[in-house]
Amino acid sequence: MAEGRLTGKTCAVSGAASGIGRAIAVRLANEGAQVAAIDLNMAGALLVAEQIEAVGGAASAWECDVAQRSSVRSTLEAIVEATGGLDVIFNNAGIAEIRPFMEVGEEHWERLMRVNGLGVLICMQEAARLMIEQGRGKIVNTASIAGKEGYDIQPHYSATKFSVVALTQAGARAFAQHGITVNAICPGIVETELWEGLDEDFMHFGITERPGEGMERFSERILLGRTATPEDMAGPAAFLASSDSDYITGQSLIVDGGMVLQ
Ligand SMILES: NC(=O)c1ccc[n+]([C@@H]2O[C@H](COP(=O)([O-])OP(=O)(O)OC[C@H]3O[C@@H](n4cnc5c(N)ncnc54)[C@H](O)[C@@H]3O)[C@@H](O)[C@H]2O)c1
Repeated sequence: MAEGRLTGKTCAVSGAASGIGRAIAVRLANEGAQVAAIDLNMAGALLVAEQIEAVGGAASAWECDVAQRSSVRSTLEAIVEATGGLDVIFNNAGIAEIRPFMEVGEEHWERLMRVNGLGVLICMQEAARLMIEQGRGKIVNTASIAGKEGYDIQPHYSATKFSVVALTQAGARAFAQHGITVNAICPGIVETELWEGLDEDFMHFGITERPGEGMERFSERILLGRTATPEDMAGPAAFLASSDSDYITGQSLIVDGGMVLQ
């Protein structure tokens, strides 16, 4: 693998077995990083690590539930042990659901908040613990445009993603003194496996009638005229992982082709 702007850096990516996390993992490895692919889905994480190694990159796969502190702590400690440090962590694992406002019960709130909110908090804390010892590090969370605008068909999901933006700002303030930056990416509509479940939810609640209609309707106001591929997230991710972004912290960067303008 040629020298890149991430050569010599260990970058952990959660949710790396699929979609956005997989594209970020592959891109970071292409830029020279040693990638730790973290996921609940170990078979998927292994496939991504193999894909990276097949083209001369460096990667390892780790089974971990981001919402379980003991699982996160032991995984990150093992990654540091294996690679010598933790330069960057992408807290990207997340789950989503379409559910009309009046249909959101406690169990739906708790299921999403456990992974998207608590999981990000735990991963930030456990990564920061190691990065504080190093005196440097970069934390990048995956929020969403639903962390910038609340959507009536995803009230609980939107709340989890606003919480990611809040944790990003709070973490930036908490960890700056230790040389650690904290930022987030807010994807718009990205064609990943996640949308298969959303599509079923749309039809289940009678919001749409046929497969694919949910994404089409949600996408109507994208200025650039198309939905995103996972690879569209990879460039901004590599930038936030690299020293090119050293003077940026506390920011949540919208990468949505022009839907939410701020
Ligand atoms: N796809 C989109 O349109 C979109 C838009 C905005 C934000 N996002 C966010 O981007 C992130 C990635 O989404 P995606 O579209 O790639 O989804 P995806 O479903 O394709 O991938 C998510 C991955 O996270 C893993 N995961 C789920 N729960 C986990 C847990 N508790 N511990 C460890 N791993 C776990 C899954 O196994 C899966 O591999 C999520 O946080 C999602 O909310 C996605």
